[in-house]
Amino acid sequence: MTEITRLSISIDERLLDRFDALTREKGYLNRSEAIRDLIRDFLVQEEWDAGEEETMGVVTLVFDHHVRELASHLTDLQHHTHEQVVSTLHVHLDHDNCLEVIIVRGKSREIRTLADRLIGIRGVKHGRLTMATSGKGLV
Ligand code: NI
Repeated sequence: MTEITRLSISIDERLLDRFDALTREKGYLNRSEAIRDLIRDFLVQEEWDAGEEETMGVVTLVFDHHVRELASHLTDLQHHTHEQVVSTLHVHLDHDNCLEVIIVRGKSREIRTLADRLIGIRGVKHGRLTMATSGKGLV
């Protein structure tokens, strides 16, 4: 267990009021936890910006599986990058549409490249990379 440090900061009252209102709206029980989450977010962003650290990401894709060769294209690419692809969840949304959630691991620049390739496949209607983290640098 690491030491807990208390700190005081100077901040414009109006800014703090808005922050408090927002954190209440988001369900935070106290200001400290909201600030800790912001700091962690900042560190995850840095992990991604650095490009060389091992991290985790989630790629979400929505596509029409009727588009010619799209499904095999997606599968081929994931086999080709199997060291980065940790797990894939496929949901048949309706007669035409599929949702795929792909958990990926690797250096952030490699994950970005893979996500761009997946999202760029013809027939993908919506694609998004969500930055996650290995959690190692965070407490
Ligand atoms: Ni499907």
